Amino acid sequence: MEKQILLLPGDGIGPEIIAETKRVLEEIARLYHHTFQFVEGRIGGDAIDATGSPLPEETLDLAKGSDAILLGAVGGPKWDGNAPEKRPEKGLLQIRKALGLYANLRPVRVLKPLMGASTLKEEVLADVDLLIVRELTGGLYFGEPRERRQINGEDGAVDTLLYTRGEIERIVHQAFQFARTRKKRVVSVDKANVLESSRLWREIADEVAREYPDVTLSHMLVDNAAMQLIRDPRQFDVIVTENLFGDILSDEASMITGSLGLLPSASMNTSKVGLFEPVHGSAPDIAGTGAANPLATILSAAMMLQYSFGLADEAKAIEVAVDRVLAQGVRTKDIAKASENAVSTTAITNAVMEAL
Ligand code: NAI
Ligand code: MG
Repeated sequence: MEKQILLLPGDGIGPEIIAETKRVLEEIARLYHHTFQFVEGRIGGDAIDATGSPLPEETLDLAKGSDAILLGAVGGPKWDGNAPEKRPEKGLLQIRKALGLYANLRPVRVLKPLMGASTLKEEVLADVDLLIVRELTGGLYFGEPRERRQINGEDGAVDTLLYTRGEIERIVHQAFQFARTRKKRVVSVDKANVLESSRLWREIADEVAREYPDVTLSHMLVDNAAMQLIRDPRQFDVIVTENLFGDILSDEASMITGSLGLLPSASMNTSKVGLFEPVHGSAPDIAGTGAANPLATILSAAMMLQYSFGLADEAKAIEVAVDRVLAQGVRTKDIAKASENAVSTTAITNAVMEAL
């Protein structure tokens, strides 16, 4: 298979984790006889410094001409004082919107060798394997109006939670399609007892469900879902929800695994040109020290192979290699216990490549 992959290293530890993940992808290409052509672009603070814009036209053109995008992270104290249009994270919001990446997938899988890393009890965590499908380009983060205004002579502000039928249908379809390849259960999370947009969401989810008689749909109110995720996360297979609820629930769910450095994500549209990135940020506090954990990015690359290229065996090979390395006790500092020796970003990547 021949594919062009756009690498967007970004800021902080971004360049380090992307360089290591590229080596893993090159190893996959060698072992499975694929040709991956890598091109590199700028985004975030790196792009602001070079061009003045957090998402230069050239980067967007490269993205549109590629088969998939692998991103490190953006942001850092250097740009914190910038105006809203010249902030690194603006580049991320813009690329998601420009490519129509409406489905954000965050799998939460408990890795047995690291079970002690979570603050939750082991018996609650054993065998957790769930997927959060978060709507990413609509809802409260994009609805208009969104502004400051005077209300009865007082400062006020408004944000708008708005969804159209088409936006809800496509994300719910995505959730059902993923559920078909998993345990065939979808929980749609909303706040239908209060919000009109949630009542529409619920109606449409019920309609879409009729097209998937092999998959079970249930509904859960978001406040209850937040509680259930901690009480008994094993009850979930696929969770589908609107943008803000998904943002909060997926960060909550990340603590089931115990470490930010291990969580991958994918943002997809219908054309399969997905954007794959670790859930964590640019970790400026450890940039350049060789301490960054590359596993979240390596696992994001596995999601890319699976979801954008349909290479399920290759994706599985990476996941198995990561599990094996962790079972061997190889740890970067963020996941090492005080008694364990931590290894560098490059060393743990070498271990993954050997396991492959
Ligand atoms: P962060 O995720 O960068 O770091 C939080 C803590 O986790 C830090 O102590 C960091 O050292 C550690 N950490 C994160 N990833 C790690 C890894 N792979 N290996 C080892 N340790 C890791 O979040 P923070 O500190 O709130 O934000 C730092 C910068 O990142 C900010 O500028 C923020 O805006 C940006 N950010 C960017 C995101 C993105 O590009 N998608 C997402 C979240 C934050
Ligand atoms: Mg978040």
